[in-house]
Amino acid sequence: MRTLIRFSLAVFLFDSFNCAILQHAQTRPDRFDWRDYGVITPVSDQGMIGDPVDFVIAEGIESLFAIQTKTKAIPLSKQEVADCCDDPSTHQPLYKGFDCIVALGGLCVDYSYKNGTGTCNNGSCTPVGKITGTGYIPAGREDFMLKVIHLTPIAVFIDAGQSSFEMYTSGIYSDPSCSSTQLDHAVQIVGYGTEAGVDYWTVKNSWGPTWGEQGYMRIVRGKNMCGIASMAFYPLNK
Ligand SMILES: *[C@@H]1O[C@H](CO)[C@@H](O)[C@H](O)[C@H]1NC(C)=O
Ligand SMILES: *[C@@H]1O[C@H](CO)[C@@H](O)[C@H](O)[C@H]1NC(C)=O
Repeated sequence: MRTLIRFSLAVFLFDSFNCAILQHAQTRPDRFDWRDYGVITPVSDQGMIGDPVDFVIAEGIESLFAIQTKTKAIPLSKQEVADCCDDPSTHQPLYKGFDCIVALGGLCVDYSYKNGTGTCNNGSCTPVGKITGTGYIPAGREDFMLKVIHLTPIAVFIDAGQSSFEMYTSGIYSDPSCSSTQLDHAVQIVGYGTEAGVDYWTVKNSWGPTWGEQGYMRIVRGKNMCGIASMAFYPLNK
């Protein structure tokens, strides 16, 4: 049984960064995928760390750091996110987007973080992925996500509770019984496209590379499917 997460839906406010993005509408290609730019690390298996939010937080930093430094993405420590950003009493993530990483001063590369002590070891290594804040997608605004995705991959909460989600193997996922408010999982959006007239998002999961399309899912775009745009956020680095 995979560990899913619980949280209550928050209302996200427009920030000035988001307003600027909306004002600068850009011409978009029909297909876009950050994997083509080397800024997405190999698919993880959340396994013992268990909390998908820790993965999307680390992956968000990995990608933005690679984009801004024009380098290939290197895996950052998911364990550090778990140790330093989860509430120690409940072992649940503190839902503050990427703000915990701002407080940490960045995130260490995976192989340099001292694992297994159960406490935050941020002093054991040198943080690399520094960021300055969190940007929030206004709830339900997939048009907005389509602009932000050109700046950075996006972290989203999603309803992965249907068995059709767990059993997904390939194609463009769509299940009308999905909820747009009961969100129990977190994934990273890495791109979008259109196939046979159906618009989709490309989503990186953390259930290993044998799940779905080599660890990825394409999910229908434009219907807030499974709440993909209900609680979406991304790292900022000014
Ligand atoms: C910590 O665990 C991760 C994931 O298993 C591993 O890749 C990394 O090398 C480990 N870090 C150290 C310092 O052993
Ligand atoms: C560790 O994180 C805390 C915030 O939780 C921060 O104040 C401190 O500077 C960090 N230490 C290092 C060595 O990065």
